[in-house]
Amino acid sequence: MKSYASLQRIFTISGADMCVKQNMGEIANHFLRQKYHFEVPCGWCNDPNGFLYWNGSYHLFYQHNPFAADPEDFKMFWGHAVSNDLVHWEYVKPALAPGLTYDNAGCWSGNAIDLGDRLGVFYTGINSKNKNQVQCYAESSDGINFTKDFENPLLKETLCSASNEDFRDPQVWRHGDYWYLIAGSAENDYGCVLLYRSTDCRHWSFMNKLVESFGELGSVCECPNFFELDGRYVLLFSPHGLKQRKSVYLIGDFNYDSGKFFWDTYGEIDWGTDFYAPQTLVDAHGRRIMIAWANSWDWMPWFEKYDTSCFGYSGAMSLPRELSLYRNQLQSRPIRELERYRVDPKYWENITVNSNEPFYYQAGDGICAEIKVAINLTSTTADEIEFRLRSNRDKYLSLVCNLKKGELIFDRSRSDSASKIVRCCPLRSVMDSILYLHIYLDTSSIEVFTDHYCTNQSNNFIMPTTCRNLSIAVQSGFCQIEKLETWGINI
Ligand code: FRU
Repeated sequence: MKSYASLQRIFTISGADMCVKQNMGEIANHFLRQKYHFEVPCGWCNDPNGFLYWNGSYHLFYQHNPFAADPEDFKMFWGHAVSNDLVHWEYVKPALAPGLTYDNAGCWSGNAIDLGDRLGVFYTGINSKNKNQVQCYAESSDGINFTKDFENPLLKETLCSASNEDFRDPQVWRHGDYWYLIAGSAENDYGCVLLYRSTDCRHWSFMNKLVESFGELGSVCECPNFFELDGRYVLLFSPHGLKQRKSVYLIGDFNYDSGKFFWDTYGEIDWGTDFYAPQTLVDAHGRRIMIAWANSWDWMPWFEKYDTSCFGYSGAMSLPRELSLYRNQLQSRPIRELERYRVDPKYWENITVNSNEPFYYQAGDGICAEIKVAINLTSTTADEIEFRLRSNRDKYLSLVCNLKKGELIFDRSRSDSASKIVRCCPLRSVMDSILYLHIYLDTSSIEVFTDHYCTNQSNNFIMPTTCRNLSIAVQSGFCQIEKLETWGINI
């Protein structure tokens, strides 16, 4: 077990870079490190920031405390990684360090913009004395070294009746002759998202509340992300104060002249315990790709300190997912690049699983694996189908499809995680004749996709590497598996 308490904390980019470089080699070898998910190289990370395709590469910035595997006092840096395929990430020194008057207590979340030969980032500055949260800008011509703008903060107040103390996580984009900025905020503890407009990307005027609420959108709307998708507009955000709900989407129509967003659909982006603050980018193929922080905050109902922080790191990202709309719901499919890293393919068809006769199968090494299954519901009589993953004799993860109740239930109470959570969400496919499930397993996380990729669960767990068995079981009746395909994943 490693303690970083003795490390000297130098709150500059080079101080942070030195600390990460000193420790990342040893951390990379830890048995719980994931193989094909981005994980913080050292210390702590939360939200993805400035997720952008720029100059031929994917850039991922993130909320980062390099000095401890804990958010501590939230004096955040922006960590940075670069990739060509969204799967292999290369460490780059941090992009932003807290330090100037307006951000001496932290450079919080924000987004990035493509300016051709320059990369711009917007972020929230946190000050140790003034409680107002302010919006700031920094720019880079090489995508590595950033200079904070001399006119910062560019937006010091909400310029409306919403709270200045909860005013954060800007997203900026260009449309026609204008730049637009949204930020999360609250008014009288009712979450809202504020919309601003500018002609020069520096001087902003308040336009409208993109969304406001009477509590149904939570008490603060964190990390809003707004974009056009398949002819409609989608707003992603992470609400505070909605208990089990923590990353939601709204779908509607948007009018650029009035700044009004007329939304008609409200949905859950991911029902798992570990999916927060998603951001999106558009890449050279025109794909809208989303990535999220794959961990949870201590204010979430299921939180227990079960994570990897005692090993010197804490924080990972979800798999990147390509977004589209399916029957007016948000559909998110893991990016196709992952298919390049499939190894050891296996295939079964027409399997009948009878009660008390579990069907055992293989998927890669049982730790890093992809599993795709199609179950014929018309010829299945069982009420419940249980997938046991990462099992040995007494430990396992359980994923149950309750066909009678129409529920998908993930249960890690028989794992090594201290947090004994059970996450239950609707399983709409019980109305169909075939139920499709797509599962990704990495060393310490599982991502499950179903209902045409509109119902997803991302959950972390801790399991000994000796637990590798996989099985499918029913308690009564039988289940008819039409097709089962598995792969190992090796990047
Ligand atoms: C969301 C969040 C943001 C804030 C950042 C601080 O997880 O609370 O609202 O900018 O984290 O690290």
